[in-house]
Amino acid sequence: MEVLIRETSEQASLLGAQIVAQLLRRKPHCVLGLATGRTPLRLYDELIRLHRKEGLDLSGVVTFNLDEYVGLPADHSQSYHYYMAENLFRHINIRPEATHVPDGCATDLRAHCVEYEKAIVNAGGIDLQLLGIGSNGHIGFNEPSGSLRSRTWIKILSEKTLRDNAPHFDSPEQQPRHVITMGVGTILEARHCLVLACGSAKSHAVRAMIEGPVSAMCPASALQMHARTTVVLDRAAATRLDHPEHYEWIEKHKLDWQQYA
Ligand code: PGA
Repeated sequence: MEVLIRETSEQASLLGAQIVAQLLRRKPHCVLGLATGRTPLRLYDELIRLHRKEGLDLSGVVTFNLDEYVGLPADHSQSYHYYMAENLFRHINIRPEATHVPDGCATDLRAHCVEYEKAIVNAGGIDLQLLGIGSNGHIGFNEPSGSLRSRTWIKILSEKTLRDNAPHFDSPEQQPRHVITMGVGTILEARHCLVLACGSAKSHAVRAMIEGPVSAMCPASALQMHARTTVVLDRAAATRLDHPEHYEWIEKHKLDWQQYA
């Protein structure tokens, strides 16, 4: 894993946006895997700014989102369809038909999971998958103890994740307990995975992901088996790492072509 530590979440988010923008400039017809949650909001803001002020073109991009709540329609304010429209898609020049978010209201959810996998393959596979990490180590909504080879599937949220995300809902009754999510195996097929994690609440999960054993109890640790994963952290998320100076040494000695300029 490539581990890049920045002092602030602002700096970490801007670096994440730079990595995405670098791919967009190099490969305008790329396939992006996208994430939701609090973490990528600043990164999306920066992509919008780059589009508006620096002509970053997203007209050729195809996107696939990681997950969606089962039972929330696209126009529900807490659905990830709504999140993506509000926080990114409607501000950039992406073609609406090129954006994909799992349909949590599909009549046959299991068939939809299979179709979602096929759509990713038909698009040529994901070039860059953006990921957050849950405080329990989940990626997408793949909760601890789930299969590390899973494909897009229906999952039950853990109590920890329900608690973490409860502030987004008016009442516990409104919060779905079931989700549709790309599997860990699906995520591992992306050509490049980019994990962004900020804040001390993520520090345990970040340590388990980077320095812990590969274990289904921390699904993000499966990324240790991925050929190209970049983890961008702010200092608070990096506090529990045993070897921050090692990661900083590696970054300092990168060759020119390895830099994210
Ligand atoms: P957060 O969620 O960005 O809202 O912290 C991340 C995740 O659960 O993957």
